Amino acid sequence: MARSGSLPEVALGNEEAVRAWDTVLYDRWKKNRKVFVGALDEVTDKAFELYPPPEGGSCIDIGCGFGETTVQMAGLVGPEGFALGTDSSPHFIRDAINEAADSGAGNVAFEVADAQVADWPPAHEYAFSRMGTQFFAAPVPAMRVIRGSLKPEGKLCKICWQRKEDSALWAETEKIVERFLDHPEESDADTCGPGPFSLGNPETCRGILEAAGFEDVEIEPFEFDYYMGGSMDEAVEAATAIGPGAELIRLNGDFGESRRPEIEAALVERFTPLLREDGSVFGRAATWIVGATNPG
Ligand SMILES: C[S@@+](CC[C@H](N)C(=O)[O-])C[C@H]1O[C@@H](n2cnc3c(N)ncnc32)[C@H](O)[C@@H]1O
Repeated sequence: MARSGSLPEVALGNEEAVRAWDTVLYDRWKKNRKVFVGALDEVTDKAFELYPPPEGGSCIDIGCGFGETTVQMAGLVGPEGFALGTDSSPHFIRDAINEAADSGAGNVAFEVADAQVADWPPAHEYAFSRMGTQFFAAPVPAMRVIRGSLKPEGKLCKICWQRKEDSALWAETEKIVERFLDHPEESDADTCGPGPFSLGNPETCRGILEAAGFEDVEIEPFEFDYYMGGSMDEAVEAATAIGPGAELIRLNGDFGESRRPEIEAALVERFTPLLREDGSVFGRAATWIVGATNPG
């Protein structure tokens, strides 16, 4: 297992997003991890069902975060296979290394790398990314680098959000926050770059992959009940930690924080119909599961 620690060589234009993901977004992701990561289990299983990592093969995970999907892939490819988790954030990778060591997975490794400028040899049969390819300043060069990590005929499988307005949970949360806050023209806070919905238009997603040299691009819609939290408090906390509404609060700085009590009260009202008997909260979410091939 190797290489965490200092920030990687970062592509021009990615600095702000890479910094945001290694600082404030890392903290928020870690605190709300049970919700953010757990909520994506269903779509992840579907992606691996549609595009199974090859038994005995070598896989790379792009923007792997805490490495849950990397370890899952290591299990799917079996002891003769291998999974490399990569992320531009040293903090995420440090946790991924520690957790994989604790889990005893012997066929995984992790490294810190900005996928847009990484120097990966064509070593893998399979490249995967769950919500990790929407943040590149220059997506075509980034996807070309990712294609370069694949052997000829190697497969790409990735998951990304559909348009924001197609996931009620994101669109409505933002609308509620917008009742209290404007989008600031300027903010001192780092943004996460093009952002989670930058591949929402499937033709944009397809065009980027084809321009990067991928072939046989397939884009499947996958909608599901998204776990927003085990309780109303947890759901409101998560919705104001990550996502478009949360970003609006964060970018408004102290003023955004000062409106938090009213925002939270409005979110409780909106989320109440989404409550289940056990107290958990679920909203509808819409993702794309994308497959493509490296022709070599
Ligand atoms: C939405 S999180 C997803 C994390 C993980 N794949 C998951 O599903 O739990 C996005 C991840 O992409 C990483 N990321 C952002 N920009 C990146 C870049 N240029 N190169 C590599 N990773 C990047 C972030 O550090 C973060 O861990």
